[in-house]
Amino acid sequence: MAASAANALAASRVRNPIPERLLDAVDFRRALGRFATGVTIVTTRGPAGRTEGVTVNSFSSVSLDPPLVLWCLQSAAPSAPSFLAADWFAINVLGADQHHLSRHFATPHPDKFAAIATTSGLGDCPLLPSALARFECRAERSIEAGDHTIFLGRVVRLEHREGEPLVFSAGRFCVPSPLT
Ligand SMILES: Cc1cc2nc3c(=O)[nH]c(=O)nc-3n(C[C@H](O)[C@H](O)[C@H](O)COP(=O)(O)O)c2cc1C
Repeated sequence: MAASAANALAASRVRNPIPERLLDAVDFRRALGRFATGVTIVTTRGPAGRTEGVTVNSFSSVSLDPPLVLWCLQSAAPSAPSFLAADWFAINVLGADQHHLSRHFATPHPDKFAAIATTSGLGDCPLLPSALARFECRAERSIEAGDHTIFLGRVVRLEHREGEPLVFSAGRFCVPSPLT
């Protein structure tokens, strides 16, 4: 950002301070839950060879050309050091028939892959074979943002199949029902 633009932004923040206590944390989460999302398992292989898999609904497309996507991870998550050090990660988009995986990968465990069949992807990332879609990404950049870290990835390889997506809305797993 140019110095003059940065100065204007700083001056505007002084003129328009954010009122304290305007935002209730529970309400914030409840409002965010009104934004329905898909469900993904983001996987990687850490530098020491450890496999990681995390249930994530903060996945989003960013750019078509070049093909960029992002997702966010709580910086204090046990898997964060592996993701920060990894050169590759894979985004496995879950189908409605895979809802059991979303709970499994949302629960901390020393080896989440012990009883899960996987194949090996770019960077030796574990891939979930029956995912509805998969984006294999080279890690481009990580950005600290509040209590989360944003991971930006460049999609290098992808796959997708027909099927119903798993949906997460207002704290519940759902299947989409088309409007007639
Ligand atoms: C539907 C759903 C979506 C989630 N999305 C995210 C997310 O976007 N970012 C995040 O940090 N945690 C998210 N979580 C929580 C993580 O999956 C959970 O904290 C997990 O244990 C982290 O993996 P780790 O313990 O191996 O680090 C989500 C959980 C669920 C059930």
